[in-house]
Amino acid sequence: MIHVDREDAVAVATVDRPDALNALDVATLTELCDRLRELAGDDAVRVVIVTGAGEKAFVAGADIKYMSRLDVAQAKEWGALGHEAGRLLETMPKPTIAAVNGFALGGGCELALACDLRYASGHAKLGQPEVNLGIIPGWGGTQRLARVCGLGVAKELIFTGRLVDADEALRIGLVNGVHDPVLDKARETAALLASKSPVSLRLMKELANRALGGDHAANLEAEGETFGELFASDDAREGLTAFVEKREPVFRGR
Ligand code: COA
Repeated sequence: MIHVDREDAVAVATVDRPDALNALDVATLTELCDRLRELAGDDAVRVVIVTGAGEKAFVAGADIKYMSRLDVAQAKEWGALGHEAGRLLETMPKPTIAAVNGFALGGGCELALACDLRYASGHAKLGQPEVNLGIIPGWGGTQRLARVCGLGVAKELIFTGRLVDADEALRIGLVNGVHDPVLDKARETAALLASKSPVSLRLMKELANRALGGDHAANLEAEGETFGELFASDDAREGLTAFVEKREPVFRGR
């Protein structure tokens, strides 16, 4: 099941399936998508953290026992459900942070990759071991790992199925930092982001998501247009005025 805890403007969604190292079956993944959809649409929530229950795993992947029985049509549906979870994390109009507190394998690594930021605990292990099952990463891993770590590193990891520890994950840019307890670090960053302008964060995320695709000139044009339009917002007025008046800004997200 998925627990959602809220503290001020920060929501923590925890995948909790202890008998399977938080591996995602249909019920758990469907519930995760439902909770993410709610959090995406809730303006009172400014930052979303995703983590796994317990000490051992973030998410140990898609449920392999379930996948062992799928035919082609069912596998396509299963892939689409994983893509939906990734799409929700990647496109929701607020920052998402993965607190990788242990194994993040296969679909678990792909969920983390769909988040904007990733922190790992010292004992975390990440990777895409699908090749060892005779399948491929199907929830975004063939695309997002390359976007985060570069194509050469990504191909090595998905071709070999090799797992990386937290230090290597940091070195190759797969995570933004290594911290224990990792959830504390994720909460600290989330609280910092929750104090920033939600309007700025939403627009920066939208524009940054275009950085590695599409037409560079068109993306820059979109940035210029968005930058200008933003000057009609209360948050821009407040941020700029607060600096001039030598006080802390209070951003309302308008
Ligand atoms: N799907 C379904 N069940 C899983 C699972 C997954 N992805 N990952 C772990 N589990 C289950 C195990 O089957 C086991 O259940 P059981 O006791 O009923 O057999 C339970 O979780 C504990 O896992 P176990 O393998 O006993 O723990 P371990 O510490 O020996 O090994 C891992 C941990 C993560 C190395 C190992 O579980 C593993 O390799 N899991 C699969 C990872 C993977 O390939 N993920 C990608 C899938 S796309």
